[in-house]
Amino acid sequence: MIVAVLVLAYLLGSLSFAVLVSRVMGLPDPRSHGSGNPGATNMLRTGRKSAAVMTLLGDMAKGWVAVWLAAYAVTRFGLPHELVYGAALAVFLGHLYPVFFGFKGGKGVATAVGVLFALSPMLGLVCVLTWATVFAVTRISSLAALVASLVAPVFAYFMMDNAAVAALAVLTVLIFWRHRANIVRLLAGQEGGFKKKSS
Ligand code: G3P
Repeated sequence: MIVAVLVLAYLLGSLSFAVLVSRVMGLPDPRSHGSGNPGATNMLRTGRKSAAVMTLLGDMAKGWVAVWLAAYAVTRFGLPHELVYGAALAVFLGHLYPVFFGFKGGKGVATAVGVLFALSPMLGLVCVLTWATVFAVTRISSLAALVASLVAPVFAYFMMDNAAVAALAVLTVLIFWRHRANIVRLLAGQEGGFKKKSS
């Protein structure tokens, strides 16, 4: 049962909504467009906000569903509580290395948001507010994601159990790893931001 929950979470994570939405809407493949990242931010660069929103919601939903299913299995079958964190990492890894798309996935930010809200709505809210604050000031999506991801294990340290701290620390390390090209550009002052809407 534990393996089945983890495999299901990984398969859910492997559904890359950026690729699926771009196919359905006849948009350029995000893996060969803009930053090359199959994620909501890069879908925004196609100029179709609706595509970005659908990608964001789909990637968030799969993270939330995977953790919810694991929590349900824990309660229903008396499985160890830590399975919830295993499912959180499995769905996240599915997004990063999707079996359906040649193991070439995204950077995991939207999926992480869904995971965080499922683990603790307060944790999700704090991280999203951090993202929004950094983005409002800098207009740089990657920087906002990196800062918000640092908040997650710190929040868990004060408000959650040790297994949550460990799982969220791994998630943050993976987010930094997947953003390594962004980090190089940020340090060089070359990371592109989104222009403020002129009123
Ligand atoms: O959510 C992904 C974001 O943090 C960076 O995306 O396309 O600007 O590399 P991108």
